[in-house]
Amino acid sequence: MFSDRTNWNLTSNRLGEALVRHRSNRKPLLDLTASNPTECGFSYDHEAILRALANPSALSHMPDPRGLESARCAIAAYYGIRGDSVPVEDIFLTTGTSEAYSFIFRVLCNPGDELLIPAPSYPLFDFLAEIQDVKLVRYPLFHDHGWHIDFYALEQAITPRTRGIIVVHPNNPTGHFATVRAIARLNEICAAREIAILADEVFLDFSLAKEQPPSFAANRGALTFTMSGLSKISGLPQMKAAWLISSGPEPWKTQALARLEVIADTYLSMNAPVQLAIPDFLEQRHRFQQQLMARVRGNLSELDRQLAAQNSCARLEVEGGWYAVLRAPATRSDEDLAVELLEKSGVYVHPGHFYDFPDDAYLIVSLITPEQDFAEGIRRTLSRF
Ligand SMILES: Cc1ncc(COP(=O)(O)O)c(C=O)c1O
Repeated sequence: MFSDRTNWNLTSNRLGEALVRHRSNRKPLLDLTASNPTECGFSYDHEAILRALANPSALSHMPDPRGLESARCAIAAYYGIRGDSVPVEDIFLTTGTSEAYSFIFRVLCNPGDELLIPAPSYPLFDFLAEIQDVKLVRYPLFHDHGWHIDFYALEQAITPRTRGIIVVHPNNPTGHFATVRAIARLNEICAAREIAILADEVFLDFSLAKEQPPSFAANRGALTFTMSGLSKISGLPQMKAAWLISSGPEPWKTQALARLEVIADTYLSMNAPVQLAIPDFLEQRHRFQQQLMARVRGNLSELDRQLAAQNSCARLEVEGGWYAVLRAPATRSDEDLAVELLEKSGVYVHPGHFYDFPDDAYLIVSLITPEQDFAEGIRRTLSRF
């Protein structure tokens, strides 16, 4: 009856089962995986957001495969402020980064073609790729005074079926940015093999450094697809507003745009009210990002304060993004540890293997967790060692 590609093993893991049990017994929970910004106690300008959705122009249908020009101009201006020149016609609006990924997978890959993805990284890629019949091949990141791409392993992983390399910038959950040197190396590798760079920049604005990290949006060294959106930038995941930018050498860029146009025209998936609201939603980012970065910095210093008072656990350096990686003694599997924390301490954290960490020593916590929950959750976590 069904396709092989949807023949997934959907049984939940032990931690998932423990969480369902915990919730159904109505036990109190300190959720240190919180990643939905609309549920984390940030203050939004409700009136401005709702007003933006009530634009009378939404009463007309104005189909454009790339999405409304007014929205794309606002996005180009957002990059302009960063110092990146992004032509409005190189931008496509999508209903989320996941849709942007699927468009790119369709443009680049035949069934069974391969894309390289970083490990550790965000776990949604597996489903996205399987739905598009794309095979994911992992390239390792290693940690040595910060995270780095293992370029030797990356090059070994490239086969004649490789169509592109995914870079998450900054990566989730390791929180590191690709350096200028790494970007140059990626350009060299991709240009020489005629494969693309797929850059996921949803967390780009959330850097802890004073200097702004470079974006891939204007990268010209290889065919590049850069994705971002308002779910993180303005903390509005419910609006389903994201984008995809193509850049790079000719003739590849023009061909990519022409192919994307057919795919986007086939779906025309963006709705009018959200497209019309994008300029206002982008404006909301200032207020949101200020609160979010204050939360991230506050939680990080609380974490450091508590870590300084013990010597079993440490955290890895965070350059940006919404997460911190704790290194704990690997006395049991990270899943056992996460289940134990949930059942005995009422604290929910993600074990590193969710993100393909290479061993059992890692726990991932969200830095956007409300402060009190974060402080108490970390206290209970550290007290287990
Ligand atoms: C690295 C990364 N990319 C993409 C997404 C999804 O973004 P969107 O809501 O725009 O689909 C997430 C969500 O957490 C993410 O962590």
